[in-house]
Amino acid sequence: MASELQRFNAKRVLFITDRGVHAAGLTRPLEAAVPQGCRLAGVYSEVMQDPTAQLMDELGNRCRDEGIDALVAIGGGAALDAAKGAGLVASHGGSILDLVGEDKVQRPPITLLCIPTTAGTGSEVSWHISVNDTERHLKVTVRSPLAVATTAILDPQMVASVPPAVAAAAGMDALTHLLESYVGNVGRWEMTDALNLHGIQLVGDSMLPYWKNRGDERHARSMQIASCIGGLALSHSRTGIVHQMARPLGAKFHVPHGMANAVLLPWCLAVTATRDPVRFARIARALDSSAPEDDAAAAAGLADTVHRMNKTMRVPSSLAAFGVKEAELEDLAVDALQGKPAVTNPCAVSLEEVVGIYRNALKGEAHG
Ligand SMILES: [Fe+2]
Repeated sequence: MASELQRFNAKRVLFITDRGVHAAGLTRPLEAAVPQGCRLAGVYSEVMQDPTAQLMDELGNRCRDEGIDALVAIGGGAALDAAKGAGLVASHGGSILDLVGEDKVQRPPITLLCIPTTAGTGSEVSWHISVNDTERHLKVTVRSPLAVATTAILDPQMVASVPPAVAAAAGMDALTHLLESYVGNVGRWEMTDALNLHGIQLVGDSMLPYWKNRGDERHARSMQIASCIGGLALSHSRTGIVHQMARPLGAKFHVPHGMANAVLLPWCLAVTATRDPVRFARIARALDSSAPEDDAAAAAGLADTVHRMNKTMRVPSSLAAFGVKEAELEDLAVDALQGKPAVTNPCAVSLEEVVGIYRNALKGEAHG
């Protein structure tokens, strides 16, 4: 971090994090490592779960008012996205909401170092920022190759102290990014294919060992790289039905993003994996080298493989764990299909099928 701040000639730096990361003491060694010639303007530690446009605007304006020329974001996807948004407001003025949409960003953020403390979102390298527009009650996105951190720093020690449930949710979020990017119909190409299959292989090798022992540097590093690859690939392609269905669970039941994806992923795969057996079979074999050579059999077994991973990591198999009730499934399904065009899915998924997937996920029948 110190050498990067020097390389970009930073004079005044603000740290951005959340309460949990701050309380865990992860920022302290970094505070002590701010190099000579650069002043620490403060540590902002109040980033919330879905960072708001208002927060990004406040932090960006603070940079402009106080002459802050660099940001260091330490945390999960929320802290990183908050800092990415703030960095753009600092370099553009106005509001982050002015930059929502495709390619509205005119210039990069002020110097921004992203240090992830979970291995999941890939936000440290992705070209998009999730913004919570609280006035319109919407989650909106800034998408641009310029909406990126200046530098991403992956340090296995920063992901060594996360609780097991967070490690599981983050890891399954990374797997979902890699998988949905690989099978999606928008923006995928040979480079994302290569990246995604390698990322999925890293998850297959390291997800469970990392979950069991987060201090294991080799597996922690592999999960960080897998997460990072997912962020890079998603910058070209898009997420699909799992993320679409996870979104209303976050909005209505406050299920954390990664956990919602983790619970839904096997149930979605049970419906989608057999519709493109060749690609899903490649995923199955990358995730588990003992998967069948026959494409149809490998694709059909993928949901069970993911169920088993979830079960090992104590991810609930049922949405009932989050207070979801049968009567709400129809509304959730309507909401899930509204946000994004269905073209980003590997195959068309009807409203009835989405209700059916939610229903199966609510029943939580045992698999594997
Ligand atoms: Fe995600």
